[in-house]
Order: sequence, then structure tokens, then C-alpha cells
Amino acid sequence: MKTERTTVIRSSGGYVPPRVVTNGMLARIMDTTDEWVVPRTGIRERRYVEPGVGPAEIGEKAARAALDAAGLAPSDIDFVIFATMTPDHYFPGSGGLLAARLGMTTTHALDIRMQCAGFLSGLHTADAFIRSGAYRRVLLVGAEVHTGLMPWPKGVWDVLYGEVPGPCDPFWYQKITQLRDRAVLFGDGAGALVLEANESGDGRGFLGFVMYTDGLNWDKLYVPGGGCKSRPYFTPEMFERMGTVPIVEGRQVFRLASQLMPQAVQEVLSRCGKGLDDLDMLLMHQANLRINEAVQKVLGLPDDRVHNNIQKYGNTTAATLPLVYDEAVKLGKVESGDLVCFTALGAGLHWGAGLAVI
Ligand code: UT7
Repeated sequence: MKTERTTVIRSSGGYVPPRVVTNGMLARIMDTTDEWVVPRTGIRERRYVEPGVGPAEIGEKAARAALDAAGLAPSDIDFVIFATMTPDHYFPGSGGLLAARLGMTTTHALDIRMQCAGFLSGLHTADAFIRSGAYRRVLLVGAEVHTGLMPWPKGVWDVLYGEVPGPCDPFWYQKITQLRDRAVLFGDGAGALVLEANESGDGRGFLGFVMYTDGLNWDKLYVPGGGCKSRPYFTPEMFERMGTVPIVEGRQVFRLASQLMPQAVQEVLSRCGKGLDDLDMLLMHQANLRINEAVQKVLGLPDDRVHNNIQKYGNTTAATLPLVYDEAVKLGKVESGDLVCFTALGAGLHWGAGLAVI
């Protein structure tokens, strides 16, 4: 009898740049404090890349870590999926750049731009390609360089890093303070998974997904400038108005994420014939620790069945799920045979959940 093909996570890898930026450092360039940020978000610090480093470069580091963990070479991969909302270029997408960095010349690469839900959508896509028989082994990478969205000049970065004494230029201090609700949230990072076909019938692999999009709420999280609806797609006035910085209706996003992620988790469990008691680990997107605490409370899960790392990295958008998974595995919080649920909500709005036996 033919056994059903499932998609298993063969290995994971993560990379965060070495530059640590604390809330106290951010307070050098905007009106904020550790006392404001930590109670509202849980974030204590985040990582920033150096200028000139893009998501394909840090994605390569995470990809190589995942390949090494599996004892595989880039030539063992059939298909690359790259999720990012901060691509190296407007086009082409970062997937091909990553494939080239890995020395792949014939491997097809797909780019996903679904923001904080990008990696979850990548899991969904990889699972469909693998189960259909189109590919056996997929490298799925999420990488973000949010610092590219931070439009301040070098002199301000120098004050932030303590390379020149403050105070910050008052013009920029006032401008950045207008963005402080967003500027404190994001960090740079990359994560990767190697996913592959499993025909052993051992019960391991993805059991199902629930995925949703609500385009009516597109304006809760978006970047107003830099799209081809404007002619030309970038103008000096756009930069003047900070139109290239994302707009975040934070309270609405908080409310929607706290409601929709637990609903998606319960729905995927029930569709797969499982209950919350069966769940060993819930890995949530990391946009705000308080959102995740609310989700955990709604679902009634104890602390040892969730894992968060936003405290150290902030919101790393498409890199978050693989980074949090990789960390949970390395800490021994996720082991082979565990039932793990991944959930995320992000700009689009897109949200959903995926359930897997590791
Ligand atoms: O995944 C994509 C993006 N993630 C999210 O959107 C996460 C969900 N959103 C949130 O978690 C919350 O909305 C935030 C933590 C981001 C912001 O909290 P909030 O309570 O919604 O803040 P707010 O923007 O409504 O601002 C409340 C006050 C304002 O001051 P006034 O006008 O009441 O005097 C802000 O200026 O807090 C002030 N404020 C800050 N003060 C110090 C906003 N950000 C900061 C800051 N430091 N970083």
C-alpha cells in the first residue's frame, strides 16, 4: 500500500546580526524610554545590520546554518522560497539573489511578500509543492532588514550607536519621535527551514493549515510611498513626508491579532482532529509580547507550551517564525514527535495557522 506523503521539517537555522540596539540606545535619537517600551511590548533590544547588508545576505547565513544542520549541500535543494517585506531591490526578489549566493544556477526560486504572515504562507506553499510531488526538498527562508525603512541620516545613526556624542540633531529627534510607536518594534534577522518529503508513514509532518486574507483591512499596516500607483513611484516629497515608513494602526492590529490568531489555532486543531490538550508547543509571530500573552491566555496554555523571543529581537517579520522555531529546538523545548502549531498575522491582512508533528 502506498503511504501518504507528508512534509517534515528536516532542519532549521537562524542568523541575527551582532549589533545589539537597546531601548536606551533608541532613546538617544527619539523621545522614548525602556520604561515605556518594555511594559507595552516586552521588547528589550533588537539587532541591526550594518549599511549595505540586505536580506539575501543574512538569509544566506540562516540558509547555510539550516543546510549544515541537515548535513546537506545547496545542490540537494529542489526549490527555494524566500519571504520578506524588505527585499534587497524593488525587483528582482531576494529569492534568486539567495539562490545565486548559494551557488544554485538551475533551482527555481519563489518570492513571497506577505509581511508578518510571509513565512507561514511559505510553509503552506512548501507543503503543497512537496505533497503534490512537484519537489522533494524545499529551502524556505524568511529574512528582514527593517533598518532600510528607517530614513535618518548617518549622523543620527552615529549618535544611536554612541560613535559620536549626542545630542541628536533636534530636527531629526523630532521627526523620529513621530515614528516612535513603530521605530521601537522592529529588528533585523533571518531564519530558514529545510522541508522535505516523508513517505515513511511514521505520522510526522504537517497535518494542515488554515489561511485567511482580509484585504479590506489593508490600510491597518502599509507603506504609503514607493508603489507604482504613484507616478513616479518615488518622489522627493514622499521622503519629505516620511511616506516610505510603514503606517501601523497599532491598537487595531493588536486587537485583531489577539482575536484572530487563537481562532486560527483552534480551527486548525479541530480540522486535524486534535485539541489544545494535544498541543506540545505554540509558536506565534512575535509582534508584541502582550499580544502573545493575550493569545496564550485565551487558549489557556501553560508557559511551557509557548516560546517567545521578541524580548531579544523585536519583530523580525518574516524571519520570526523560523527564528523562534530554531531557538525552541536548540533549547530542547521542541523535540521530534511533538505537535507544534505555528500562527501569524500580518499586513494584508493575512493570518492563519499550520499544525505539524515534528
Ligand atoms: O506586526 C506589525 C506591527 N506590530 C504591531 O502593530 C503591534 C501591535 N501594536 C502594538 O503593540 C501597540 O499599538 C504599540 C505598542 C505599538 C503602541 O502602543 P499604543 O498604546 O497603541 O500607543 P499609541 O501609538 O496609541 O500611543 C499612545 C501614547 C502616545 O502619546 P500621547 O499622544 O498619548 O501623549 C504616543 O505618542 O504613547 C506614545 N508613544 C510612545 N511613548 C514613548 C508611542 N510610542 C512610544 C514610544 N515611547 N516608543
